[in-house]
Amino acid sequence: MDGTAGGGLVAVAGSAEVLALPGLGEELLTPAERERAARFHRERNRLDFVAAHLLVRLCAARLLGVPVAGLVLEQYCPDCGLSGHGAPSLAGRPEVGLSLSHTEGVVAAAAGPAPVGVDVELPGGRDGTADLYDRVLGPAESALVAARPDPDGAFLRQWVRKEAMIKIGRASLDTLASVDLSALPLDLPGPGPALHRHGDLHLLDWAAPGSGALLAAVSTRPVRLLPPDGLRAGGVQGRPGASA
Ligand SMILES: CC(C)(COP(=O)(O)OP(=O)(O)OC[C@H]1O[C@@H](n2cnc3c(N)ncnc32)[C@H](O)[C@@H]1OP(=O)(O)O)[C@@H](O)C(=O)NCCC(=O)NCCS
Repeated sequence: MDGTAGGGLVAVAGSAEVLALPGLGEELLTPAERERAARFHRERNRLDFVAAHLLVRLCAARLLGVPVAGLVLEQYCPDCGLSGHGAPSLAGRPEVGLSLSHTEGVVAAAAGPAPVGVDVELPGGRDGTADLYDRVLGPAESALVAARPDPDGAFLRQWVRKEAMIKIGRASLDTLASVDLSALPLDLPGPGPALHRHGDLHLLDWAAPGSGALLAAVSTRPVRLLPPDGLRAGGVQGRPGASA
């Protein structure tokens, strides 16, 4: 696979920003994606869906060094066994790992030479009830989160990491508390992405300036962040093996 020696690419951006990128339009979506997009009642949710599905194509195109227009997205749900929703992949390129995430006005996507999972959440999007904390955090994680001046922010950091792990099949909604991430720092060391290891996984953490959205991406291969201004041009941020 060309262009993948450096590992996977991750991007996060405002939905409107993605939709304004040249060469990315709804006509790139498959009939199945357009049909799903049409089912959204709120236009802003529809646009988030479309933007995420376009951004994942952009990541894959950058990874492979091919035009976006030739890429066909497929989806398969491992839970119900149906296609058209669930884990995304590239038609004819099963070796390429893809992942996407959308929240209110912000989307994230990733493409890599191995399975990759990405999740993005806005601050305040998952403020924890005690019950939610218990379902998501193990005892050591709970103690660390509770000791923080901003427990909800710390909880959200662990939440996006664990959701990303669901997307590479390393967790499920029922097993989140048994994935112990208590050894990982809850703070970012600076404005750039932080790169960590968790067992055989590479983990990228970031907080997008502006929206403050928390991003996590995981893969068995290193992952690098496409900087916001790199969506139009080239370039990546956060080289493998270093914390930016
Ligand atoms: C995968 C999951 C963590 C997504 O989390 P979320 O915060 O709700 O949503 P996000 O926007 O971050 O991610 C949604 C994307 O995850 C991807 N996705 C969905 N299921 C996935 C899976 N099993 N594996 C990998 N990726 C998956 C899709 O690309 C989806 O985007 P789309 O709906 O626009 O196609 C969550 O849906 C989940 O745990 N699903 C498993 C249980 C389930 O609901 N199964 C459906 C049975 S029919």
